[in-house]
Amino acid sequence: MEFLKNISQNIFKKRSIDDLILTSKKSELKKTLSVFDLIVIGIGAVVGTGIFAIVGVAITGNSESVGAGHAIVISMVLAAVACIVPALCYSEIASMIPVAGSAYTYTYATMGEFMAWMVGWILMLEYAIGNITVASAWSGYFMQFLKGFKNCLPDFILNIPIWLRYDYRAIYSMCDKYGWDIHDKIPFLFDKIPVAVNMPAVIIVLILTLLLIKGVKESTRVASIMVGVNMFMILSFIIIGSHYVKPENWHPFLPPVEPVTGILMGTFTIFFAYIGFDAISTAAEETEKPQRDLPIAILGTLIICTILYVAVALVLTGIVPINQIDALAPIAHAMKFVGKDWFAGLISVGALCALTTVLLVYQLGTTRILYAISRDRFLPRSWRMIHRKFKTPHVMTWISGIVVIVCGLFMDLKISADLCNYGTFTSFVIICLAVLILRKTNPDTHRPFKVPFSPILPIIGILICLVLIFFSLNTLKTSSNYFISWLVVGFLIYALYGYRQKRIGEQKRN
Ligand code: ALA
Repeated sequence: MEFLKNISQNIFKKRSIDDLILTSKKSELKKTLSVFDLIVIGIGAVVGTGIFAIVGVAITGNSESVGAGHAIVISMVLAAVACIVPALCYSEIASMIPVAGSAYTYTYATMGEFMAWMVGWILMLEYAIGNITVASAWSGYFMQFLKGFKNCLPDFILNIPIWLRYDYRAIYSMCDKYGWDIHDKIPFLFDKIPVAVNMPAVIIVLILTLLLIKGVKESTRVASIMVGVNMFMILSFIIIGSHYVKPENWHPFLPPVEPVTGILMGTFTIFFAYIGFDAISTAAEETEKPQRDLPIAILGTLIICTILYVAVALVLTGIVPINQIDALAPIAHAMKFVGKDWFAGLISVGALCALTTVLLVYQLGTTRILYAISRDRFLPRSWRMIHRKFKTPHVMTWISGIVVIVCGLFMDLKISADLCNYGTFTSFVIICLAVLILRKTNPDTHRPFKVPFSPILPIIGILICLVLIFFSLNTLKTSSNYFISWLVVGFLIYALYGYRQKRIGEQKRN
């Protein structure tokens, strides 16, 4: 009985806000990031696969669901609304507890160690597993980009065998689709194990891992150049494209068949394009003036992205009739549609830059969350060793890079994108809940930023996210099984390793 009582006391043990802030003050991470750097991290994490690729499917739909058509604009605003409440909540807590670790740290302060570990584990879905999707999309765009140089590049680069540029699941589905024999396309080890490695994805993840080890300031400098390029491309698309808009293309505005389903499915699909603004809070410990800058950066990023997305969608649907919109590279295709092939090529460069920054920021987020988790002893402390010269957690950075590379060998892209959505929805629910709890438990702690209309807004945020989670759990059977398995594995790691390590750590401290 005593034993069970001890366990239940331990798993609900919270860390006080003062203790968290004290730990962050002792942090060895360099405090170099300004509000501009944070917005670069935010836009870098948000603008990517969603607006350059997924928007096409959100408009046209696919074999499983109808699309939003021109009403994608409504879907985009709805998706932004679903993000705005969690964004406000992130701003309140990040300014109150400017400590690395994002929702993991906030959960520790509000719901205790077990929930904190589980949230940290779920955040890995959003960051590390989400990165598998982006790395693969990057590889696709890169191969397209290389084709633009077909006159100057050697054949072995232009025609890399299929098993060196896709994961094996993708190759299996291509074989299914085109009636190819799988044995002609992939070598098999011992006649049984298919060998397929997405080499461009592996190489870009390795390069970014090295860059992140070199330094976070250096990484954001590279990211800011790429964010600049992709913003320039998007703005040029809006300006040049607006000259070709035919307002009659916007009629009928609502999808003629199943308009409500179309708009909701569009919202669900385009939600992926908004994921990432929370990555700003993972860099809290490296921010010069976190209390002032974090809320400005989080809300600023969300507002800038929503305005850009809506403008892109209006121009895109104003240029190309719905039934001719390209589902894979809609923006580049729209420029080809009006005869601007050279600009379509430049858009591919913009897309590559955008996907690279998403990868970079997610990789940064993964290491900073793992850093906070291992500081609390739920993962080996040796993992958070800081590089003597560069002052970055290099072991952790390598581990997160290797996880993306290895999981990328086995994971289907669609599944990794769905898992990323589950991770994000769950962290949004937790963050809204944390605001409500902290308002009760720490009413007097200084809050440089406060969510307006609390508790109504956080409750609305929780409800919207829960509806989205249950809607997708119900619809997406395969990924919901993966999600539940992920939770079980997380629980086992805590029960067999984390719980014991934490107690050993406490005994040493006493
Ligand atoms: N929002 C990020 C993207 O669209 C995940 O790539």
